Amino acid sequence: MAKLWGGRFSDKEMDETVLEFTSSLGVDKVLAKYDCLSSKVHVEMLAKCGFIPQEGKDQLISVLDELALKIEDGSWEYSPKHEDIHSAIQSYVEEKLPVVAKKMHTARSRNEQVVNDVRLYCKEKCELMGKLIVAFQKELVSLAEKTVDVILPGYTHLNRAQPVVFSHLVMAYVEMLERDKGRLKGALSRLDVCVMGSGAIAGSALELDREFVSKKLGFSDISANSIDAVSDRDFIVEVVSVLSLIAVHLSRISEDMILYSIPEFGFLEIGADYCTGSSLMPQKKNPDVLELIRGRSAQVISALNSLFVLLKALPHSYNRDMQEDKKPLFESVELVAAELAIMADLVKTISLKKETALKALQDEFIYATDIAEYLVRKGVAFKNAHDIVGNIVKHCSDEDVKISDISIAKLKTFSEQLEEDVYELLDPVSSVNNKKTVGSTNPELVKKEIAKWKKKLR
Ligand code: ARG
Repeated sequence: MAKLWGGRFSDKEMDETVLEFTSSLGVDKVLAKYDCLSSKVHVEMLAKCGFIPQEGKDQLISVLDELALKIEDGSWEYSPKHEDIHSAIQSYVEEKLPVVAKKMHTARSRNEQVVNDVRLYCKEKCELMGKLIVAFQKELVSLAEKTVDVILPGYTHLNRAQPVVFSHLVMAYVEMLERDKGRLKGALSRLDVCVMGSGAIAGSALELDREFVSKKLGFSDISANSIDAVSDRDFIVEVVSVLSLIAVHLSRISEDMILYSIPEFGFLEIGADYCTGSSLMPQKKNPDVLELIRGRSAQVISALNSLFVLLKALPHSYNRDMQEDKKPLFESVELVAAELAIMADLVKTISLKKETALKALQDEFIYATDIAEYLVRKGVAFKNAHDIVGNIVKHCSDEDVKISDISIAKLKTFSEQLEEDVYELLDPVSSVNNKKTVGSTNPELVKKEIAKWKKKLR
């Protein structure tokens, strides 16, 4: 197999073991379509700048077009004996056009090619990920719309805190994912830079048209420093970092759904298609899909970590170590894309068990804060109100009674300000309806949020 770097070395074939050890083809074959496209634009630019004759250019373009089709339909059978995808493509063209293909690699280094290809890959995948997030958000909004009348205990420290409408929780996920979209956009804006023309490190002595290549490949800008261009992998770290956070978010949503679906909570049911049974215990319905989403977030976080460790002591500029950046990137992209897609489908199958939620809301301590705010409205300082309600809660615990069991006369011994209407607070509907602040769990406000998001995501 013709090496991209013959010359200085003897003509003897590369040692098999060394080739196998150093080759990245198994991983960077993913970059084939971007490398083929970039090669085509590079050839056009070289012709435009007078380094390839018109006829040679036409021949090269048609061979690259033919290769692009093969890459697309998966019929390209390349030899595994290439160092990487860049060499494989160069060699394909050389086999077809032995003379003019030798000009194709003019003023081009794999050091910049690999960066440019990965940038093109990241651009495409960030856009795809944004679309997958929108699709998931849409499903969440429609779940929220269907469940705005369901109230359940909201949890802090995994202890019952205050009643919330289920939709409010679901819309919290929508907000969280929106920030992820923003981060993807930010990463995309910084990585949308063409590095071709940077050469191996120092640029080129030939008069190339970098702007032409950049525009043709759809980039917004060209890189300003050839050393930075071939050594920068920040954009990969950024993308995997955003993906890690998405994976963490999906893991947290999964954890909520798992908890709420188990009998101890019993607030919701997940579609049977997304669960599995136990080979031993006939009664089991296990939320495996959600558990795997929760579990696999570890892989994305590890990918981010491995990128940091890979880069931390690398001297400028290009080093072969950098070849190892692609596996964590590609694997994270594949995994998070699959997770977003399956989550969007799974959410459609969620049904709520309103009755169990109502039962949990009979725990009257969940209205303690409502009583404290009732007292504040009557002029009691919040700290004092907090103490008063705390004393009532303690009394109930000690005597094993509910707040509603206590007579108004007895309640007045805790605070003169407590009147008959305090019992009305011990109700999930009035609890959520009484919420006033923007962003609160008041169902009217939640409905407005849902309407806003429906419009926004359309
Ligand atoms: N396969 C390499 C990578 O992914 C690209 C080749 C780098 N250049 C070199 N001279 N070895 O990083």
